[in-house]
Amino acid sequence: MKRIVENHTDYFFDTENATKYLNDAKNASKARFSHFLSSLKKLDIKGKYLEIGSGPGILTQLVATQHPNAEITANDISPEMIKLAQQDLAEDLKTRIKYEIGDACDNNSIKDLGKFDLIYSTFTLHHWDNAELAIRNLYAMLNDDGLIYIHDLKRVFWLHYIKSQSGFFKSIRAAYRPNEIKTMLNKTGIKNYKIKTFFPFFMQFILIRK
Ligand SMILES: C[S@@+](CC[C@H](N)C(=O)[O-])C[C@H]1O[C@@H](n2cnc3c(N)ncnc32)[C@H](O)[C@@H]1O
Repeated sequence: MKRIVENHTDYFFDTENATKYLNDAKNASKARFSHFLSSLKKLDIKGKYLEIGSGPGILTQLVATQHPNAEITANDISPEMIKLAQQDLAEDLKTRIKYEIGDACDNNSIKDLGKFDLIYSTFTLHHWDNAELAIRNLYAMLNDDGLIYIHDLKRVFWLHYIKSQSGFFKSIRAAYRPNEIKTMLNKTGIKNYKIKTFFPFFMQFILIRK
């Protein structure tokens, strides 16, 4: 699937950038994660959770706190992000959260994590080198009746009129349109899915049920 800008995952491999990301995510956690967290609360999924592309683990800890019975494995391709996430992990969550390095696009690096009732990911879809392959890999790791919940930016037409090259706008430019995601999912043969845009309208989520 062609993207408008190249993905910039290398950015997250640098200690300074990863630390900046951690601080920004902490300061803006309400704005970034409240929609996802309130939807997840309503879904009330029991069992084992896998977070893909957890970054420094800010959301991981919020999910663990909101779902006190959930056991969470959180993955990221960047060793720097995983190191920061481990350092930042609250003492009382250490028995329920474990962090693992791995690439969602490389089945060999994630398949041993096990099977899950919920696999979720926020703001990462547009970074995956091969999103179709990643979705196939994650689908294979779902338990029966399990759910994949992907929350990401959405590319919107009015971006053509905005000249800003900030990281935020670059990410929106790199994000998929719903019809592109639909094409991708149809190629995987996955049928039970829903793609929904929500306010502000450069945001979307994808729910895939096994
Ligand atoms: C924009 S950050 C989002 C972090 C976190 N999910 C959040 O919402 O704050 C994107 C993260 O995805 C990770 N990432 C990119 N490609 C990945 C892949 N193929 N597999 C696993 N993680 C990946 C990056 O290293 C980075 O930490």
